[in-house]
Amino acid sequence: MTAPKKLYIKTYGCQMNVYDSERMAEALGGQGYVETKTPDDADMILLNTCHIREKAAEKVYSELGRFKGLKAARPDLKIGVAGCVAQAEGQEIMRRQPLVDLVVGPQSYHRLPEMEAKTRAGEKALDTDFPEEDKFEKLRARPKAKRGPTAFLTVQEGCDKFCAFCVVPYTRGAEVSRPVDRLLTEARDLVERGVREITLLGQNVNAYHGVGPDGADWSLARLIWALNDVDGLERIRFTTSHPNDMAEDLIEAHADCPKLMPYLHLPVQSGSDRILKRMNRSHTAEQYLRLIERLRAARPDLHMSGDFIVGFPEETEADFRDTMALVEAVQYGSAFSFKYSTRPGTPAAERAQVSEAEKDDRLQRLQALLTRQQRALQDAMVGREVSVLFEKSGRMPGQMVGKSDYLHAVHVDSDAIAPGDLARVRIVSSGPNSLAGELSR
Ligand code: 5AD
Ligand code: SF4
Repeated sequence: MTAPKKLYIKTYGCQMNVYDSERMAEALGGQGYVETKTPDDADMILLNTCHIREKAAEKVYSELGRFKGLKAARPDLKIGVAGCVAQAEGQEIMRRQPLVDLVVGPQSYHRLPEMEAKTRAGEKALDTDFPEEDKFEKLRARPKAKRGPTAFLTVQEGCDKFCAFCVVPYTRGAEVSRPVDRLLTEARDLVERGVREITLLGQNVNAYHGVGPDGADWSLARLIWALNDVDGLERIRFTTSHPNDMAEDLIEAHADCPKLMPYLHLPVQSGSDRILKRMNRSHTAEQYLRLIERLRAARPDLHMSGDFIVGFPEETEADFRDTMALVEAVQYGSAFSFKYSTRPGTPAAERAQVSEAEKDDRLQRLQALLTRQQRALQDAMVGREVSVLFEKSGRMPGQMVGKSDYLHAVHVDSDAIAPGDLARVRIVSSGPNSLAGELSR
């Protein structure tokens, strides 16, 4: 028997890339690869990349440079670039970094086995097509191995929104939703293997419109309700949503659907109507705030999360203050904020840029406010009872870590808990990044 070949995958960017990396490892599993945790003994290195901000792409090039020594020592080592940088830069990657043997875009990775064979024959392999066939169908079924209690499930890909700053509509293509029956089959399979919480993924997940088993067009809410009936599945989450696709049935699901968790990532990007318009977001700050009111009327304890960009072209101090005011009005449970990063080929790249010093200053002020809010909401959990899905051992012996309904990390000291257990926990204290609790009796 030949020894298995070793595959090292490094994943950058969003959760959709995490899901894609799992599927790529499975696809190459058929070629005799097993995953390894270090590039040092790998036969193939794959970087699954993100192109959302400038630094993300630059990081990939510097990481590739670091593999020079490994490749010199072992010329048989194959190096591949996958994901959105692969899609956006294609051939340019091989030109700029001759170490690279393989470049595969996010819509073509089901073709990895043939591409890998090509590299073994000494050729370079490049595929950044948007093929007709469904890559998920072409991939081998997920192996039946046991897995952890939480999993991602990509239900939708691509984006038709064309926000003026964003490369996603170009790298991931138009919105496509996977059919309901395939998703339910994949979800049941995950549950059989030990998964108790599934996060539905999509660049615009709430724009999901898949073909149902009845041939009708199913919304995300309908899909969530069908998942709610899957025995053994305990929790459902979804991310990332656009405010304009927050349909009434999805808002109602937050009130009525028992397994849908009270946490919603709903990026707004800015609180200034002038900037929202220039961003091509197609909604105002007021519409976003009214939407959150409706969501909180449905589910009063809903924890909100968001994304913000500071220093978008032409953003003034007054525009930025509008963003701060919106944040004050919402009270976020968590949030991500970024300095605007110029992406070539997007409309905003051509406009008057805000200075780096102003971007830094605004980011610092916004992050200070968001951190205060996050901490306040977390501290307010002390004394409350929450359900926790335990995932793994903590750093201390006898300690287990899991996530609350609201996605807070929670530590509990107990020998009686195993990964995958769902238990009621009383929160006793709040630290910088996590809560501590005790099992409720
Ligand atoms: N510059 C900075 N942040 C960006 N994002 C997307 N494009 C850019 C850009 N050009 C942020 C948005 C989005 C998140 C995934 O990344 O906030 O919601
Ligand atoms: Fe990018 Fe806007 Fe689409 Fe989100 S909605 S992926 S920010 S274009």
